[in-house]
Amino acid sequence: MSHRNEATAALKALSVATDACRECPLGAHATQSVFGEGPVGAALMVVGEQPGDKEDLVGRPFVGPAGKLFDRAVAELGWSREKLYVTNAVKHFKYEPRGKRRMHKTPGQREVDACHHWLESEMELVQPRACIALGGTAARSLLGRPVAVMTERGQWVEDAATGRRVLVTLHPSALLRGDPLQREAAWEAWLKDLSMASELMK
Ligand code: URA
Repeated sequence: MSHRNEATAALKALSVATDACRECPLGAHATQSVFGEGPVGAALMVVGEQPGDKEDLVGRPFVGPAGKLFDRAVAELGWSREKLYVTNAVKHFKYEPRGKRRMHKTPGQREVDACHHWLESEMELVQPRACIALGGTAARSLLGRPVAVMTERGQWVEDAATGRRVLVTLHPSALLRGDPLQREAAWEAWLKDLSMASELMK
């Protein structure tokens, strides 16, 4: 088997293993785990926070409202989502039931830490040239320190310990929640941040 096929098979096995993961309490309440998707050898790994309601039901990352916004940005930048490896810092949906709805809850550091080894394994197998952190949870998980997204956004940050290159920007949900009057400017600023990675998508 080629290295690529072996790594693809190993990712599939990890995906199955995350579904059974109970290293933190989230797995017991979610429908299923949502593992990353994309090709081994993808130049860019995009990391979000955790699956949302739709992702939890479908079993794929970034297919809900935040994912739709991300897809729009990918199209606008002339990238192709199939060439990206897209994943999350946390593999199970954390929520609070409110009536019939399941409201997103930000994962705690303990949950992010418990899930971190899955992300490391994805990185080892995919071997991306760089990562994009969508939001503070992803940035912290990738860089191993708290990250002030608004200060560090839009530039390549190199982790001295691992040599990992990370482009930090906002999570798409922050744009969806933002002031409607600022929406256009926020969108343009987000695209500008993301475009720093366009050199890797050629
Ligand atoms: N938000 C995320 O961070 N990840 C998803 O997969 C969906 C929404």
